[in-house]
Amino acid sequence: MAKLDKNQVLIFDTTLRDGEQSPGATMSLSEKIEIATLLDEMGVDIIEAGFPIASEGDFEAVSEISNIINGASVCGLARANKVDIERCWRAVENAKKPRIHTFIGTSPLHREFQVRLSKEEVLDKIFETVTYARSFCEDVQWSPMDATRTERDFLIQVVRIAIEAGASTINIPDTVGYTAPRESALIIEDLFSNITQMEEITVSTHCHNDLGMATANSLAAVEAGARQVECTINGLGERAGNTALEEIAMALRVRQDILPFTTNLDTRKLIQASRLVSTVSGFPVQFNKAIVGKNAFAHESGIHQDGMLKHAGTFEIMKPEDIGLIETNLVMGKHSGRAALRKKISDLGFNLGDNQLQDLFVRFKALADRKKEVYDEDLLALLSDNSMSRNDEFLQLIDLEVKCGTKSPQTAKAKIALEGNQHIVESTGDGPVDAVFNAIKKVFPHSAQLQHFQIHAVTEGTDAQATVSVRLEEAGKMVTGQSSDTDTVVASAKAYINSLNKLVLRRKKKAPNAALN
Ligand code: KIV
Ligand code: ZN
Repeated sequence: MAKLDKNQVLIFDTTLRDGEQSPGATMSLSEKIEIATLLDEMGVDIIEAGFPIASEGDFEAVSEISNIINGASVCGLARANKVDIERCWRAVENAKKPRIHTFIGTSPLHREFQVRLSKEEVLDKIFETVTYARSFCEDVQWSPMDATRTERDFLIQVVRIAIEAGASTINIPDTVGYTAPRESALIIEDLFSNITQMEEITVSTHCHNDLGMATANSLAAVEAGARQVECTINGLGERAGNTALEEIAMALRVRQDILPFTTNLDTRKLIQASRLVSTVSGFPVQFNKAIVGKNAFAHESGIHQDGMLKHAGTFEIMKPEDIGLIETNLVMGKHSGRAALRKKISDLGFNLGDNQLQDLFVRFKALADRKKEVYDEDLLALLSDNSMSRNDEFLQLIDLEVKCGTKSPQTAKAKIALEGNQHIVESTGDGPVDAVFNAIKKVFPHSAQLQHFQIHAVTEGTDAQATVSVRLEEAGKMVTGQSSDTDTVVASAKAYINSLNKLVLRRKKKAPNAALN
């Protein structure tokens, strides 16, 4: 591997592995490929594409991503056993730059309850499995899971043995989001002072955000000598999520004066990545989320607006265009043509192929017929709503008629394709949405429970599109579906169908024995 500049920080994105482990964030193969392609274009150095042993779907996703990614290394995750490691290698072996990432729990709690091994046995297992991984692949990353709650002297021992066995990256996970910035730095410093070979390998930091300190902890680790940060777009991840890639990227860019580190990232793709991951995962980005939230660059108070008019720098530490946010005055309506739509979409950060643009154009025209002015938010909702245009989905809504009003019961008649075969179903319900969901259930009976149903208006006005989110739970596993339409009931039907399609995907994914964080 080429020697890096000593201040270069590698960005390791784990949106497709740790991010996808978020309850409800299941992604399809084509969605994973789309995200991986964008991460590669953005300059991410390593893409952790999945956990190949977890399911056929994970294996396939890691293999496909390995086949198509040209710039970044493609990494798969494996527990500390030969079956996992070999499966992981088979998934990444065709990548231009393959990496195996293997790990084992090292803290007292993990040793006793998770892996049930003594310290000696853990040390032996590390040597054996890292050596095995190296027999396939030169680039092996090793992680002591729950490192920040591992006795410091034992942490030094495990890291030393992993390096001796051939690991070229040592990742230090704060698995439960427990550490704080000063401690995060001290752990890395301790490793450097006690292990001479540390200078020859890359040290990585992997933080969870349970106490809201993931970004601060990762940056503290970098200041102490870590040169790889593991992160996810929008901070997606189990519980409170992982370190947010966009926060690391912009902190390093904006505070070059005190954080003189470089990355390969093109930050102008951040907003596009954020929108794509939000759409695909069904996890909305909170309005006040740092860097990519809707309000991150909005100034409402009089003092702020006045300052901004006089000099943007008074209240703005970075420019919207630095993350790819471009403001345009181009209002779209029913007379806007394809060229205007293409320009608008590209300003919003999306590059669509001709077929995708054509499909969007048809849906844009249909929307513009119903709505006088089509705002950026409307287009973003259309872009995120690909459920109607794809015909390879397990379930697809073709037509819907609903009767509702003051007289109950309300009724729904739907035409739905199940694996390509069309069915017409009718049902009643307590309200139009209930009637529609009951009708859909007739085509695809299931026992998943509705956990969450939310509607929000995309813009103002009574003709606004509604975005509906539906979360289902089946056997402890969650899936989230989302859709938009000017008709709230149609949006609900599409969101429900979207969540059922994800449920079908989720069923194919067997949980591996050991829990991961
Ligand atoms: O949080 C964690 O410990 C992990 C490891 C698998 C690296 O995600
Ligand atoms: Zn993790």
